[in-house]
Amino acid sequence: MPEFARPMHDTWLLAGARTPWVDYCGALAAVSPTDLGIHAARAAIERSGLPASAIGASVVASMAHADFDAYVLPRHVGLYAGLDIAAPAIGVQRICGSGFEVLRQAADQIALGYADAVLAVGTESMSRNPICAYTHRSGFKLGAPVEFKDFLWEALDDPAARVSMIQTAENLARQYGIRREAVDAYAARSFDRALHAQSQGWLAAEIAPVTAQRFGREGYHDRALRLPRKVEALAQDTHPKPSPAAVLAGLRTVYEGGVQTAGNSAALVDGAAAMVVGNGEVMRQSGRAPLARLAGASAAGVPPEIMGIGPVPAIRQLLTAYGLTMADIALVEINEAQGAQVLACAQALALDENRLNVNGGSIALGHPLAATGLRLTLTAALELQRRNERYAVVSACVGGGQGMALLIENPDYCKA
Ligand SMILES: CC(C)(COP(=O)(O)OP(=O)(O)OC[C@H]1O[C@@H](n2cnc3c(N)ncnc32)[C@H](O)[C@@H]1OP(=O)(O)O)[C@@H](O)C(=O)NCCC(=O)NCCS
Repeated sequence: MPEFARPMHDTWLLAGARTPWVDYCGALAAVSPTDLGIHAARAAIERSGLPASAIGASVVASMAHADFDAYVLPRHVGLYAGLDIAAPAIGVQRICGSGFEVLRQAADQIALGYADAVLAVGTESMSRNPICAYTHRSGFKLGAPVEFKDFLWEALDDPAARVSMIQTAENLARQYGIRREAVDAYAARSFDRALHAQSQGWLAAEIAPVTAQRFGREGYHDRALRLPRKVEALAQDTHPKPSPAAVLAGLRTVYEGGVQTAGNSAALVDGAAAMVVGNGEVMRQSGRAPLARLAGASAAGVPPEIMGIGPVPAIRQLLTAYGLTMADIALVEINEAQGAQVLACAQALALDENRLNVNGGSIALGHPLAATGLRLTLTAALELQRRNERYAVVSACVGGGQGMALLIENPDYCKA
Protein backbone atom coordinates (compact mmCIF):
# COMPACT_ATOMS: atom_id res chain seq x y z
CA MET A 1 0.00 0.00 0.00
CA PRO A 2 1.49 3.39 -0.90
CA GLU A 3 1.92 5.79 2.00
CA PHE A 4 -0.53 8.69 2.16
CA ALA A 5 2.16 11.37 2.01
CA ARG A 6 3.06 13.85 -0.73
CA PRO A 7 5.47 16.74 -1.15
CA MET A 8 3.87 19.93 -2.50
CA HIS A 9 5.28 22.48 -4.90
CA ASP A 10 4.86 26.25 -5.02
CA THR A 11 2.02 26.28 -2.47
CA TRP A 12 2.02 29.12 0.04
CA LEU A 13 0.30 29.96 3.29
CA LEU A 14 -0.24 33.63 2.54
CA ALA A 15 -1.68 34.68 5.90
CA GLY A 16 -3.60 33.37 8.86
CA ALA A 17 -5.63 34.58 11.82
CA ARG A 18 -7.63 33.11 14.66
CA THR A 19 -10.03 34.09 17.37
CA PRO A 20 -8.82 33.78 20.92
CA TRP A 21 -9.53 30.32 22.38
CA VAL A 22 -12.20 30.92 25.04
CA ASP A 23 -13.08 28.45 27.80
CA TYR A 24 -16.03 26.12 27.35
CA CYS A 25 -19.35 27.70 28.35
CA GLY A 26 -17.62 31.11 28.54
CA ALA A 27 -17.98 34.33 26.57
CA LEU A 28 -18.28 32.62 23.15
CA ALA A 29 -20.81 30.00 24.21
CA ALA A 30 -23.71 31.82 22.56
CA VAL A 31 -21.85 32.42 19.29
CA SER A 32 -22.46 30.21 16.26
CA PRO A 33 -19.31 28.55 14.83
CA THR A 34 -20.34 30.00 11.47
CA ASP A 35 -19.80 33.52 12.85
CA LEU A 36 -16.51 32.56 14.51
CA GLY A 37 -15.38 31.17 11.17
CA ILE A 38 -16.44 34.28 9.25
CA HIS A 39 -14.55 36.48 11.71
CA ALA A 40 -11.33 34.46 11.39
CA ALA A 41 -11.71 34.22 7.59
CA ARG A 42 -12.18 37.96 7.14
CA ALA A 43 -9.10 38.66 9.28
CA ALA A 44 -6.97 36.13 7.35
CA ILE A 45 -8.06 37.59 3.99
CA GLU A 46 -7.32 41.12 5.21
CA ARG A 47 -3.83 40.02 6.30
CA SER A 48 -3.19 38.23 2.98
CA GLY A 49 -3.32 41.40 0.91
CA LEU A 50 -5.57 39.64 -1.62
CA PRO A 51 -9.05 40.88 -2.44
CA ALA A 52 -11.63 38.27 -1.35
CA SER A 53 -12.71 38.13 -5.00
CA ALA A 54 -9.32 36.60 -5.90
CA ILE A 55 -10.03 33.53 -3.76
CA GLY A 56 -11.58 30.83 -5.88
CA ALA A 57 -12.99 28.40 -3.30
CA SER A 58 -13.29 27.66 0.41
CA VAL A 59 -12.61 24.50 2.40
CA VAL A 60 -14.13 24.61 5.86
CA ALA A 61 -14.25 22.21 8.82
CA SER A 62 -16.39 22.10 11.93
CA MET A 63 -17.02 18.92 13.87
CA ALA A 64 -19.97 19.77 16.09
CA HIS A 65 -23.31 20.54 14.51
CA ALA A 66 -23.40 23.47 16.87
CA ASP A 67 -26.18 25.53 15.31
CA PHE A 68 -29.19 24.88 13.12
CA ASP A 69 -27.36 26.27 10.08
CA ALA A 70 -24.64 23.59 10.35
CA TYR A 71 -25.36 22.12 6.89
CA VAL A 72 -24.60 25.46 5.24
CA LEU A 73 -21.74 26.47 7.54
CA PRO A 74 -18.96 25.88 4.95
CA ARG A 75 -20.84 27.82 2.29
CA HIS A 76 -21.82 30.69 4.59
CA VAL A 77 -18.30 31.16 5.92
CA GLY A 78 -17.07 31.74 2.35
CA LEU A 79 -20.09 33.82 1.40
CA TYR A 80 -19.91 36.21 4.36
CA ALA A 81 -16.12 36.32 4.20
CA GLY A 82 -16.71 38.10 0.88
CA LEU A 83 -15.78 35.44 -1.69
CA ASP A 84 -17.41 35.68 -5.09
CA ILE A 85 -20.85 34.07 -5.19
CA ALA A 86 -19.50 31.67 -7.83
CA ALA A 87 -16.69 30.41 -5.52
CA PRO A 88 -17.71 26.94 -4.26
CA ALA A 89 -17.31 25.68 -0.68
CA ILE A 90 -16.82 22.24 0.78
CA GLY A 91 -16.96 20.97 4.35
CA VAL A 92 -14.40 18.38 5.40
CA GLN A 93 -13.67 16.42 8.55
CA ARG A 94 -10.71 14.52 9.88
CA ILE A 95 -11.75 15.22 13.48
CA CYS A 96 -8.73 16.69 15.33
CA GLY A 97 -6.76 16.73 12.06
CA SER A 98 -9.42 18.80 10.29
CA GLY A 99 -7.45 22.04 10.64
CA PHE A 100 -4.63 20.39 8.65
CA GLU A 101 -7.01 18.68 6.24
CA VAL A 102 -8.50 22.02 5.12
CA LEU A 103 -4.97 23.17 4.25
CA ARG A 104 -4.16 19.90 2.47
CA GLN A 105 -7.34 20.04 0.41
CA ALA A 106 -6.84 23.75 -0.37
CA ALA A 107 -3.34 22.88 -1.63
CA ASP A 108 -4.70 19.99 -3.72
CA GLN A 109 -7.31 22.25 -5.32
CA ILE A 110 -4.57 24.72 -6.20
CA ALA A 111 -2.19 22.00 -7.51
CA LEU A 112 -4.95 20.53 -9.67
CA GLY A 113 -5.71 23.96 -11.13
CA TYR A 114 -9.21 24.44 -9.73
CA ALA A 115 -8.20 27.75 -8.11
CA ASP A 116 -5.16 29.97 -7.63
CA ALA A 117 -6.07 30.84 -4.04
CA VAL A 118 -8.30 29.01 -1.54
CA LEU A 119 -9.68 29.97 1.87
CA ALA A 120 -9.12 27.28 4.56
CA VAL A 121 -11.10 27.57 7.80
CA GLY A 122 -11.65 25.48 10.94
CA THR A 123 -14.25 26.55 13.45
CA GLU A 124 -15.58 24.89 16.55
CA SER A 125 -17.98 25.61 19.36
CA MET A 126 -17.32 22.89 21.90
CA SER A 127 -19.85 24.65 24.17
CA ARG A 128 -22.67 24.26 21.68
CA ASN A 129 -22.30 20.54 20.99
CA PRO A 130 -25.95 19.52 21.05
CA ILE A 131 -27.82 17.51 23.63
CA CYS A 132 -29.68 15.26 21.23
CA ALA A 133 -31.68 12.11 20.55
CA TYR A 134 -31.89 10.07 17.37
CA THR A 135 -34.94 8.00 18.14
CA HIS A 136 -37.73 10.43 19.02
CA ARG A 137 -38.80 11.75 15.62
CA SER A 138 -41.85 9.53 15.55
CA GLY A 139 -42.80 10.31 19.13
CA PHE A 140 -42.39 8.91 22.63
CA LYS A 141 -44.01 5.63 23.65
CA LEU A 142 -45.49 5.76 27.10
CA GLY A 143 -42.89 4.57 29.58
CA ALA A 144 -40.14 4.18 26.96
CA PRO A 145 -36.75 5.60 27.97
CA VAL A 146 -36.09 9.18 26.88
CA GLU A 147 -32.78 9.14 25.02
CA PHE A 148 -31.37 12.65 25.03
CA LYS A 149 -27.61 12.45 25.39
CA ASP A 150 -24.69 14.87 25.53
CA PHE A 151 -23.19 14.66 22.04
CA LEU A 152 -19.81 15.97 23.24
CA TRP A 153 -19.46 13.34 25.93
CA GLU A 154 -20.63 10.53 23.63
CA ALA A 155 -18.46 11.69 20.73
CA LEU A 156 -15.31 11.35 22.83
CA ASP A 157 -15.91 7.57 22.91
CA ASP A 158 -14.83 5.16 20.18
CA PRO A 159 -17.33 2.28 20.02
CA ALA A 160 -15.03 0.12 17.81
CA ALA A 161 -12.50 -0.28 20.59
CA ARG A 162 -14.95 0.65 23.38
CA VAL A 163 -12.58 3.31 24.72
CA SER A 164 -12.88 6.99 25.48
CA MET A 165 -10.23 9.34 24.09
CA ILE A 166 -8.75 9.65 27.59
CA GLN A 167 -8.54 5.83 27.82
CA THR A 168 -6.55 5.74 24.58
CA ALA A 169 -3.96 7.92 26.35
CA GLU A 170 -4.05 5.63 29.39
CA ASN A 171 -3.29 2.72 27.03
CA LEU A 172 -0.26 4.62 25.71
CA ALA A 173 0.85 5.51 29.25
CA ARG A 174 0.93 1.79 30.09
CA GLN A 175 2.58 0.81 26.81
CA TYR A 176 5.32 3.46 27.07
CA GLY A 177 5.79 3.34 30.86
CA ILE A 178 4.69 6.96 31.35
CA ARG A 179 3.98 7.94 34.94
CA ARG A 180 1.61 10.56 36.34
CA GLU A 181 4.53 12.76 37.52
CA ALA A 182 5.93 12.93 33.99
CA VAL A 183 2.52 13.84 32.55
CA ASP A 184 1.99 16.60 35.13
CA ALA A 185 5.51 17.93 34.59
CA TYR A 186 4.84 18.03 30.85
CA ALA A 187 1.49 19.81 31.39
CA ALA A 188 3.06 22.36 33.76
CA ARG A 189 5.60 23.13 31.03
CA SER A 190 2.82 23.58 28.49
CA PHE A 191 1.15 26.16 30.77
CA ASP A 192 4.50 27.91 31.43
CA ARG A 193 5.33 28.12 27.76
CA ALA A 194 1.86 29.38 26.79
CA LEU A 195 1.95 32.05 29.49
CA HIS A 196 5.41 33.11 28.31
CA ALA A 197 4.23 33.28 24.68
CA GLN A 198 1.20 35.29 25.81
CA SER A 199 3.38 37.73 27.80
CA GLN A 200 5.67 38.23 24.77
CA GLY A 201 2.74 39.05 22.48
CA TRP A 202 3.46 35.98 20.30
CA LEU A 203 -0.07 34.62 20.70
CA ALA A 204 -1.53 38.09 20.10
CA ALA A 205 0.19 38.03 16.68
CA GLU A 206 -2.05 35.07 15.76
CA ILE A 207 -5.26 36.55 17.16
CA ALA A 208 -7.85 38.83 15.55
CA PRO A 209 -9.74 40.14 18.62
CA VAL A 210 -13.46 39.38 18.58
CA THR A 211 -15.97 42.18 19.11
CA ALA A 212 -19.74 42.22 18.73
CA GLN A 213 -20.30 42.80 15.02
CA ARG A 214 -22.59 42.34 12.05
CA PHE A 215 -21.55 40.49 8.91
CA GLY A 216 -23.29 41.77 5.80
CA ARG A 217 -23.54 40.40 2.30
CA GLU A 218 -25.40 42.43 -0.29
CA GLY A 219 -28.74 40.89 -1.15
CA TYR A 220 -28.74 38.59 1.91
CA HIS A 221 -29.69 38.88 5.56
CA ASP A 222 -27.09 40.27 7.93
CA ARG A 223 -25.61 37.93 10.51
CA ALA A 224 -24.79 39.11 14.04
CA LEU A 225 -21.99 37.99 16.34
CA ARG A 226 -23.12 38.94 19.85
CA LEU A 227 -21.00 38.91 22.99
CA PRO A 228 -22.31 38.79 26.56
CA ARG A 229 -23.23 42.16 28.10
CA LYS A 230 -20.19 43.89 29.60
CA VAL A 231 -17.78 41.99 27.30
CA GLU A 232 -16.52 44.54 24.79
CA ALA A 233 -13.79 42.52 23.15
CA LEU A 234 -12.06 39.17 23.48
CA ALA A 235 -8.40 39.52 22.64
CA GLN A 236 -6.65 36.81 24.62
CA ASP A 237 -6.84 33.04 25.14
CA THR A 238 -8.56 32.44 28.46
CA HIS A 239 -7.34 29.02 29.58
CA PRO A 240 -3.62 29.55 30.31
CA LYS A 241 -3.08 30.08 34.03
CA PRO A 242 -0.16 29.38 36.36
CA SER A 243 -0.32 25.61 36.85
CA PRO A 244 2.74 24.25 38.63
CA ALA A 245 3.20 20.49 38.65
CA ALA A 246 2.59 20.43 42.43
CA VAL A 247 -0.92 21.88 41.89
CA LEU A 248 -1.65 19.60 38.93
CA ALA A 249 -0.60 16.63 41.05
CA GLY A 250 -3.55 17.34 43.36
CA LEU A 251 -6.18 16.87 40.63
CA ARG A 252 -8.27 13.71 40.45
CA THR A 253 -7.56 11.34 37.57
CA VAL A 254 -10.42 10.83 35.11
CA TYR A 255 -10.03 7.04 35.56
CA GLU A 256 -8.97 5.41 38.79
CA GLY A 257 -5.32 4.40 38.66
CA GLY A 258 -4.77 6.42 35.49
CA VAL A 259 -2.55 9.40 34.71
CA GLN A 260 -4.87 11.80 32.87
CA THR A 261 -6.66 14.63 34.68
CA ALA A 262 -8.49 17.81 33.67
CA GLY A 263 -5.17 19.64 34.17
CA ASN A 264 -3.02 17.51 31.87
CA SER A 265 -5.56 16.89 29.06
CA ALA A 266 -6.62 19.26 26.29
CA ALA A 267 -9.00 21.89 27.63
CA LEU A 268 -12.43 22.36 26.06
CA VAL A 269 -12.62 25.77 24.35
CA ASP A 270 -14.43 27.61 21.54
CA GLY A 271 -12.62 29.22 18.61
CA ALA A 272 -11.93 29.47 14.89
CA ALA A 273 -8.86 29.90 12.69
CA ALA A 274 -8.36 30.60 9.00
CA MET A 275 -5.64 30.79 6.39
CA VAL A 276 -5.41 31.89 2.79
CA VAL A 277 -3.50 29.40 0.63
CA GLY A 278 -2.23 30.38 -2.80
CA ASN A 279 0.11 29.45 -5.64
CA GLY A 280 3.35 31.32 -6.28
CA GLU A 281 1.80 33.72 -8.75
CA VAL A 282 -0.90 34.83 -6.33
CA MET A 283 1.67 35.05 -3.54
CA ARG A 284 3.79 37.44 -5.59
CA GLN A 285 0.71 39.46 -6.68
CA SER A 286 -0.34 39.90 -3.04
CA GLY A 287 2.66 42.14 -2.47
CA ARG A 288 3.07 40.76 1.05
CA ALA A 289 5.51 38.30 2.56
CA PRO A 290 3.88 34.89 2.99
CA LEU A 291 3.69 33.10 6.32
CA ALA A 292 5.25 29.87 5.09
CA ARG A 293 5.55 27.50 2.19
CA LEU A 294 3.34 24.44 2.57
CA ALA A 295 5.85 21.75 1.64
CA GLY A 296 3.99 18.48 2.23
CA ALA A 297 1.20 16.60 3.95
CA SER A 298 0.57 13.10 5.23
CA ALA A 299 -2.04 11.03 7.06
CA ALA A 300 -1.80 7.56 8.57
CA GLY A 301 -3.98 5.01 10.32
CA VAL A 302 -3.17 3.43 13.71
CA PRO A 303 -5.21 1.12 15.99
CA PRO A 304 -8.18 3.03 17.47
CA GLU A 305 -7.30 2.06 21.05
CA ILE A 306 -3.97 3.92 20.77
CA MET A 307 -5.16 6.70 18.47
CA GLY A 308 -2.80 9.16 20.18
CA ILE A 309 0.26 7.59 18.59
CA GLY A 310 -1.02 8.67 15.14
CA PRO A 311 1.48 11.54 14.69
CA VAL A 312 4.39 9.06 14.76
CA PRO A 313 3.70 7.25 11.44
CA ALA A 314 2.30 10.46 9.93
CA ILE A 315 5.52 12.37 10.68
CA ARG A 316 7.78 9.48 9.64
CA GLN A 317 6.15 9.00 6.26
CA LEU A 318 6.03 12.76 5.63
CA LEU A 319 9.78 13.07 6.23
CA THR A 320 10.45 10.03 4.02
CA ALA A 321 8.31 11.47 1.20
CA TYR A 322 10.24 14.72 1.44
CA GLY A 323 13.68 13.14 1.85
CA LEU A 324 14.30 14.77 5.24
CA THR A 325 15.15 13.40 8.67
CA MET A 326 14.20 14.62 12.14
CA ALA A 327 17.56 16.37 12.30
CA ASP A 328 16.34 18.77 9.57
CA ILE A 329 13.26 19.81 11.57
CA ALA A 330 13.73 22.81 13.85
CA LEU A 331 10.26 22.82 15.39
CA VAL A 332 7.69 20.11 15.97
CA GLU A 333 4.09 20.63 17.01
CA ILE A 334 2.24 17.56 18.24
CA ASN A 335 -1.25 18.48 19.33
CA GLU A 336 -1.65 17.96 23.06
CA ALA A 337 -4.84 15.90 23.11
CA GLN A 338 -3.59 14.30 26.33
CA GLY A 339 -0.24 14.67 28.10
CA ALA A 340 0.60 10.95 28.06
CA GLN A 341 -0.21 10.82 24.35
CA VAL A 342 2.32 13.57 23.48
CA LEU A 343 4.95 11.96 25.70
CA ALA A 344 4.43 8.60 23.97
CA CYS A 345 4.89 10.25 20.55
CA ALA A 346 7.96 12.16 21.77
CA GLN A 347 9.45 8.91 23.10
CA ALA A 348 8.76 7.00 19.87
CA LEU A 349 10.30 9.77 17.75
CA ALA A 350 13.17 10.43 20.23
CA LEU A 351 12.19 14.12 20.17
CA ASP A 352 14.15 16.85 21.88
CA GLU A 353 11.68 18.71 24.14
CA ASN A 354 13.34 22.03 23.31
CA ARG A 355 11.86 21.92 19.83
CA LEU A 356 8.49 20.37 20.76
CA ASN A 357 5.41 22.58 21.30
CA VAL A 358 7.67 25.50 22.19
CA ASN A 359 4.86 27.98 22.88
CA GLY A 360 2.70 25.55 24.85
CA GLY A 361 -0.13 23.51 23.45
CA SER A 362 -3.73 22.45 23.77
CA ILE A 363 -3.34 21.45 27.44
CA ALA A 364 -2.75 25.13 28.25
CA LEU A 365 -4.64 26.80 25.42
CA GLY A 366 -7.45 24.36 24.67
CA HIS A 367 -8.45 22.32 21.65
CA PRO A 368 -11.40 23.46 19.51
CA LEU A 369 -11.25 20.34 17.37
CA ALA A 370 -11.52 21.53 13.76
CA ALA A 371 -9.59 24.76 14.37
CA THR A 372 -6.56 23.35 16.19
CA GLY A 373 -4.54 22.25 13.14
CA LEU A 374 -4.66 25.78 11.73
CA ARG A 375 -3.52 27.24 15.06
CA LEU A 376 -0.60 24.80 15.27
CA THR A 377 0.42 25.71 11.71
CA LEU A 378 0.13 29.44 12.40
CA THR A 379 2.12 29.15 15.63
CA ALA A 380 4.88 27.13 13.98
CA ALA A 381 5.06 29.41 10.91
CA LEU A 382 5.49 32.54 13.04
CA GLU A 383 7.97 30.80 15.35
CA LEU A 384 10.13 29.63 12.41
CA GLN A 385 10.41 33.26 11.36
CA ARG A 386 11.17 34.48 14.89
CA ARG A 387 13.97 31.92 15.21
CA ASN A 388 15.13 32.16 11.60
CA GLU A 389 14.83 28.37 11.28
CA ARG A 390 13.86 26.48 8.13
CA TYR A 391 11.43 23.58 8.63
CA ALA A 392 8.62 22.74 11.05
CA VAL A 393 6.41 19.68 11.23
CA VAL A 394 2.93 20.17 12.68
CA SER A 395 0.81 17.17 13.59
CA ALA A 396 -2.15 15.80 15.53
CA CYS A 397 -3.61 12.49 16.56
CA VAL A 398 -7.12 11.79 15.39
CA GLY A 399 -9.86 9.88 17.22
CA GLY A 400 -10.73 6.57 15.56
CA GLY A 401 -7.04 5.94 15.05
CA GLN A 402 -5.29 8.32 12.66
CA GLY A 403 -2.49 10.84 12.60
CA MET A 404 -1.94 13.78 10.30
CA ALA A 405 1.10 15.96 9.68
CA LEU A 406 2.16 18.90 7.52
CA LEU A 407 5.63 20.13 6.65
CA ILE A 408 6.10 23.90 6.40
CA GLU A 409 9.13 25.94 5.37
CA ASN A 410 10.18 29.45 6.38
CA PRO A 411 9.79 31.60 3.21
CA ASP A 412 13.17 33.24 3.84
CA TYR A 413 14.76 29.89 2.88
CA CYS A 414 12.71 29.54 -0.32
CA LYS A 415 14.12 32.36 -2.40
CA ALA A 416 14.79 31.12 -5.91
C1 LIG B 1 -10.43 15.77 31.02
C2 LIG B 1 -11.90 16.23 30.98
C3 LIG B 1 -12.81 15.00 31.05
C4 LIG B 1 -12.10 17.10 32.21
O1 LIG B 1 -13.39 17.65 32.15
P1 LIG B 1 -14.04 18.36 33.43
O2 LIG B 1 -14.07 17.40 34.56
O3 LIG B 1 -15.29 19.00 32.95
O4 LIG B 1 -12.94 19.45 33.75
P2 LIG B 1 -13.04 20.77 34.62
O5 LIG B 1 -12.64 21.92 33.77
O6 LIG B 1 -14.34 20.84 35.35
O7 LIG B 1 -11.88 20.55 35.67
C5 LIG B 1 -11.98 19.63 36.75
C6 LIG B 1 -11.29 20.25 37.94
O8 LIG B 1 -9.90 20.40 37.65
C7 LIG B 1 -9.51 21.75 37.91
N1 LIG B 1 -8.46 22.15 36.96
C8 LIG B 1 -8.49 21.98 35.62
N2 LIG B 1 -7.34 22.50 35.10
C9 LIG B 1 -6.62 22.98 36.13
C10 LIG B 1 -5.36 23.65 36.22
N3 LIG B 1 -4.63 23.91 35.14
N4 LIG B 1 -4.92 24.02 37.45
C11 LIG B 1 -5.63 23.77 38.56
N5 LIG B 1 -6.85 23.14 38.54
C12 LIG B 1 -7.33 22.76 37.32
C13 LIG B 1 -10.78 22.54 37.69
O9 LIG B 1 -10.70 23.80 38.35
C14 LIG B 1 -11.82 21.64 38.29
O10 LIG B 1 -11.80 21.79 39.68
P3 LIG B 1 -13.18 21.61 40.56
O11 LIG B 1 -13.61 20.19 40.31
O12 LIG B 1 -12.72 21.88 41.94
O13 LIG B 1 -14.13 22.61 39.99
C15 LIG B 1 -12.19 17.06 29.70
O14 LIG B 1 -11.51 18.28 29.75
C16 LIG B 1 -11.79 16.31 28.47
O15 LIG B 1 -12.45 15.34 28.09
N6 LIG B 1 -10.68 16.74 27.84
C17 LIG B 1 -10.14 16.06 26.70
C18 LIG B 1 -10.89 16.47 25.48
C19 LIG B 1 -10.54 15.55 24.37
O16 LIG B 1 -10.41 14.34 24.54
N7 LIG B 1 -10.42 16.11 23.19
C20 LIG B 1 -10.20 15.35 22.02
C21 LIG B 1 -8.88 14.77 22.03
S1 LIG B 1 -8.84 13.34 21.03
